[in-house]
Amino acid sequence: MANVTVIGAQWGDEGKGKIVDWLASRADAVVRFQGGHNAGHTLVVDGTTYKLSLLPSGIVSGTLSMIGNGVVLDPWALRDEVEKLEGQGVAVNDDNLAVADNCPLILPLHRDLDGLRESAAGAGKIGTTGRGIGPAYEDKVGRRAIRVCDLAHLDQLDPQIDRLCAHHDALRAGFDQEPVDREQLKADLAEIAPFVLRFAQPVWKRLKKVRKAGAKVLFEGAQGVLLDVDHGTYPFVTSSNTVSGTAAAGSGLGPNATGFVLGIVKAYTTRVGSGPFPTELDDEVGQRLGERGHEFGTVTGRQRRVGWFDAVLVRQTCAISGVTGIALTKIDVLDGLDTVRICTGYRLNNNVYDYLPSHTASQAAVEPIYEEMDGWHESTAGARSFADLPANAVKYIQRIQELIETPVALVSTSPERDDTILMRDPFED
Ligand code: GDP
Ligand code: IMO
Ligand code: MG
Repeated sequence: MANVTVIGAQWGDEGKGKIVDWLASRADAVVRFQGGHNAGHTLVVDGTTYKLSLLPSGIVSGTLSMIGNGVVLDPWALRDEVEKLEGQGVAVNDDNLAVADNCPLILPLHRDLDGLRESAAGAGKIGTTGRGIGPAYEDKVGRRAIRVCDLAHLDQLDPQIDRLCAHHDALRAGFDQEPVDREQLKADLAEIAPFVLRFAQPVWKRLKKVRKAGAKVLFEGAQGVLLDVDHGTYPFVTSSNTVSGTAAAGSGLGPNATGFVLGIVKAYTTRVGSGPFPTELDDEVGQRLGERGHEFGTVTGRQRRVGWFDAVLVRQTCAISGVTGIALTKIDVLDGLDTVRICTGYRLNNNVYDYLPSHTASQAAVEPIYEEMDGWHESTAGARSFADLPANAVKYIQRIQELIETPVALVSTSPERDDTILMRDPFED
């Protein structure tokens, strides 16, 4: 398999950015295919930290990076991120960045609506990142979106803006908000257009060309399968499909191109935002893991909720996403615990479940069934070979592998790019 698709197999923040950056040196192109700047991917290379939200993580190693049509693109966020990276010495130009010209745009009115809805929702709020992701995807599906290619035809945009604003003005009125300032919107689009158009092209065609020349392509997912709009903990999800199958539709090639599906899995579980979380810990162990793992959101700075490893969920997400092998990250965060727990099933109304039921209230009510294992007091931090791992850490990894019915291909032992143990090279598979 020449290509690799990286997806998050939990609720996001599994360490996708680190693994994509590490794999990027073996790839010829890295492609984002869904989500937007709700993603927050942290890379650490020789002590320097890079935080990416919209740009593919391949950009830091200089690999050709593409933003596929499945992404919702905030052009101002793109410019800010490019400028920030350039300030860190990373070159971003039309040689190494391509943006699909059929990407729908996230506009200021989307961010407004995201915020208005969340503030009005009270206890029912989703806890979005406030980036306008949901409203932008709604407008895409509602056939009202302004897309990257429209920026090259601003003089023809009035009918589209009328249609879009008619929809948003009605929604805004419900929140006692002024109608959209159409002249301001047009002025904003005219101002940003030249920046985005520098990178705009049919990404499907570029992909076809590089693949014909033998390129290895790395597809970079954002969020995680439990945030997938179909398969996740609905309605506490994001507004895109985060499963591996989206790599094809969201970049413009066939499903046979996705190759090795690498599920990124944290050695415990975290979640940011509202929604069910069966193994959540609200004791000092949870606090310790949160502190050791620096579990604060890259995008919003919110504290991530923390819990034990949930093998039921990961078995389910690996099946749904056709995961070939996993990268297990942050094993070092568990160092020093006397015992570690793994959730192997759920109890609900005297029944035992080996999967997460779909109904939201049932998801919130399931009680985890745990298996306990001895922890390890030696350090795994920075280990670069399997032989360097303590025996109990190896047992823990093997048990996870058994329970999720999916092999471990990589283990990550620190935020640094090279603190990564390779057991099975996804590009060689
Ligand atoms: P992503 O959204 O999946 O890319 O993950 P994030 O970047 O939001 O969160 C993962 C965090 O864990 C980042 O701060 C990474 O630098 C860090 N990280 C990644 N892998 C490891 C690891 O193996 N050990 C430790 N301690 N931190 C890691
Ligand atoms: P990465 O790529 C973790 C969560 C939000 C919220 C829900 C909906 O870094 O793993 P949205 O703004 O998308 O409408 O919010 O999804 N969420 C993430 N959680 N990691 C992410 O991305 C996320 N992107 C969105 O917290 O619960
Ligand atoms: Mg993240």
